[in-house]
Amino acid sequence: MIKKIKTGDLKVGMYVNKVHSSWLSAPMSMSNFMVKSEQTRKNLLDYDIRFVSIDTIKGRDVREVKEAVNEEIKMSMDNTFAAPLDEFRINRPVPVDFYFPGSKGALEHILKKELPLRDDVVELFGERGIGTVRIPQDQKGAYDRYRLEIENEDEQRKKQGFDGKFVDPEKVRQEFDFIADYYAINALSLVPDVKLTFDIYERSKEAPEIALRKEDRTGGELIDGWLKDDINILIKKDHKEAYQTYLIDHTRNAKDERVKASFIRENAKLLVENLIKNPRSGKLMAETKNAVSDLTQSVIDNPATFYSMMRINNHDYYTYTHSVNVSTMSLALALALGMNDKKDLSDLGLGSIVHDLGKSKVDNSLINKPGKLTDKEFVKMKDHVTLGVELLQENKAITERMIIPAAQHHEKLSGRGYPNGLAGDQMHLFGRISSLIDIYDALTTERSYKKAFMPFDALAILFKGQDDYDMGILQTLVKMLKEQET
Ligand SMILES: [Fe+2]
Ligand SMILES: [Fe+2]
Repeated sequence: MIKKIKTGDLKVGMYVNKVHSSWLSAPMSMSNFMVKSEQTRKNLLDYDIRFVSIDTIKGRDVREVKEAVNEEIKMSMDNTFAAPLDEFRINRPVPVDFYFPGSKGALEHILKKELPLRDDVVELFGERGIGTVRIPQDQKGAYDRYRLEIENEDEQRKKQGFDGKFVDPEKVRQEFDFIADYYAINALSLVPDVKLTFDIYERSKEAPEIALRKEDRTGGELIDGWLKDDINILIKKDHKEAYQTYLIDHTRNAKDERVKASFIRENAKLLVENLIKNPRSGKLMAETKNAVSDLTQSVIDNPATFYSMMRINNHDYYTYTHSVNVSTMSLALALALGMNDKKDLSDLGLGSIVHDLGKSKVDNSLINKPGKLTDKEFVKMKDHVTLGVELLQENKAITERMIIPAAQHHEKLSGRGYPNGLAGDQMHLFGRISSLIDIYDALTTERSYKKAFMPFDALAILFKGQDDYDMGILQTLVKMLKEQET
């Protein structure tokens, strides 16, 4: 028999056949499982799942379960209190749930507790005019403790002579040195037992540590370990050319599909990084075009391979990785939407790989700033869109259509985006795809000072802004992720 019960009444040995929540707030695979530990109940509650249905034939029955109430607890103005958003620290987990009135007036759950208040989320909230959020009354204690903690920290910082809202300057310095000196590579592109022509560093903690030296031979086990534990591996920037030659000599013709795909991805990454440094180089643009053509064909042949690779190194957020991610995912999404003309796909692939090219003209200290940009800095940052469009227009090999992702990736269907506040039909299909993928990739990428969102948490945030993104495209993205996830 199937019975609906409160999640809090769930016991070890019960068989859950369904969780009652919008499928978005729950990890996608949460149905049909046996409760094996107390932790499961806690996890479900963490995901705000208040009710589940159990199958009493497959698992234990309920003896003294009180009548399950059919109504979930609805948040309203009465059982919540208001808190200004700027009372919270950027990129740190918040101990409370955030609610905000949606388009229909009712309070919507806009941020799940324990998620970090990422700067990109604050930016999204800002565009939606969210300056004050509502917090459930029964979380007042957690909120007060958090506030006290922050005040104490601010006090300490002030004593040390720092602005209370500032991120640790030592961390900032480390991050900048790091980005300037190292280049992130993919362990999949390393072929076992080949002599290395570059040093490899591991970055499991703050500072990179040498793992293998030039002339060493890579052991298969070491590579497997890096992949399995999702360890970020790096080379020094002055070994980049040696790495590119290694890729061409050893990775390009590997038998393993994933290793071959890794070559295509790594090669594209190197080209984009060079292109960002020399955005006017016609030669680099032509090479990038070729690389994107390989990428397009491979994504057509096997989108799942690329998807699985993108999830490796998801703590590597540099413009070059992000650019290749956006291009790959935009292609996969376009295919899922039924786009099948090779020319259309290649144009979208190239357009999206160069969508942030304008960042080459924006001060690096803004692009990699760990923390919230000031209003002035944000205005400068937004310039990367127009600057990118101008750079691309100068290049004869780039057509108008290829410029659309660069021009529209920060626009929103609601008209709340920038630089032109385009709305509805003014946004091209390429723009709708790249605006969605651009934010999705950002939200699911970790940096040293901010945690990544899990796919469903990122999607939940995007769904809540009902009219910012094309719902049909967003639903196709969810379907695509769901298929590739399993
Ligand atoms: Fe951008
Ligand atoms: Fe971007």
